Amino acid sequence: MNRGNCRKEEDWLAYLDNSATTETDPAVISVMADVMKKIYGNPSSLHGIGVKAERLMEQARKVVADALSCLPHEIVFTSGGTEANNMVIRGVAEAYHHRGNHMITSPIEHPSVYHVFQYLKQKGWKITELPVDSSGRVNPADVETALTDETVLVSVMHVNNEVGTIQPVEEIGNRLKKYPKVMFHVDAVQSFGKIPLHPSRSHIDFLTISGHKLHGPKGIGCLYKRKNLTLPSLLLGGGQERGLRSGTENLPAIAGLAKAVLLAKEAEETFYQKYQTWKEMILTRIENELTGVKINGDIDDGGAPYILNLSFPGLKSEVIVHALEKEQVYVSSKSACSSKKEEPSRVLKAMGLTDQEALGSIRISMGRMNVEEDIKQCCDVLVRTIPALQKVMKVHKR
Ligand SMILES: Cc1ncc(COP(=O)(O)O)c(C=O)c1O
Repeated sequence: MNRGNCRKEEDWLAYLDNSATTETDPAVISVMADVMKKIYGNPSSLHGIGVKAERLMEQARKVVADALSCLPHEIVFTSGGTEANNMVIRGVAEAYHHRGNHMITSPIEHPSVYHVFQYLKQKGWKITELPVDSSGRVNPADVETALTDETVLVSVMHVNNEVGTIQPVEEIGNRLKKYPKVMFHVDAVQSFGKIPLHPSRSHIDFLTISGHKLHGPKGIGCLYKRKNLTLPSLLLGGGQERGLRSGTENLPAIAGLAKAVLLAKEAEETFYQKYQTWKEMILTRIENELTGVKINGDIDDGGAPYILNLSFPGLKSEVIVHALEKEQVYVSSKSACSSKKEEPSRVLKAMGLTDQEALGSIRISMGRMNVEEDIKQCCDVLVRTIPALQKVMKVHKR
């Protein structure tokens, strides 16, 4: 449904779960439909129809490369963020084992990073999990202290998907500059297209992007891999993507990703300001009109303005999510990948929250299809619904 300006009253809803996934931009859908209809060739084919497909793929690669100020051949298309993260961490483990057996990460990474490190630990790798402060931030000095002669990789995300904390990745990169044998990976899935980050300027060797977080298609993403670094391919076969990722390229999705990147970049500054205003609106309303609420993450020191994580100790996240859904406001309990699990969020626990605080948390995440009315409606519903739920909980406790 295309909402925003041409939204009809009867199908109004406030979708505020953009960190889980975003509504595909109609302009992206149109590009993809066009490619599916007209540019169906295999980019590896020698004939003209294949060449046309290859040309389009290389144009798309250039669009993504320009957005990152890197070279087109430093971009490898993948099936999304999960594959790109696996490609780096498992790939470095395989290709650079001769240099050492130690890697450094944070405890608040996305499961597609966290579980790969758990897997490597079982395989005998030494993995240092850096501490984070109460807002979820890693201290760049801790990264340097944790380095050993055996360290081959540091992996720290840019924006956390649950709380929106912005990690000091530029500073970490600058510190790692002195250690040329240590590679630096940044999962930028939740920041790309919203907060600028240039891998080469920040001494980042690998950077992960996913299409469906920026109003692009699902099942497409890419990895920035600094030139001259080698990685083995997770998938063996036809040797596409310069031997890094076999399999016939998903051209409609690649073209859709490029369109989504262009649109995101065009709107980056304007929307950053809108998100700041909207986040401020929500914070003011809940601070003035609600009690028993805890705001999680880096709100004073500039966390990502489009993600807001709130705890209502004593309430259950799922109950809040469903109560809001009844009023057409769509938010989430922790991240989409783990929101069906009963345990408290690993991320919030690492930040020092109690089980009760973590089990009663919700995430509000904004995107480019949102309008101010969505935020107002979300606030109205929150200040109406939360006290009612809190009252029911008190009644039950008696
Ligand atoms: C920070 C982060 N990294 C990686 C991913 C995985 O991306 P994808 O869904 O494209 O596999 C996600 C998705 O939620 C994410 O939020």
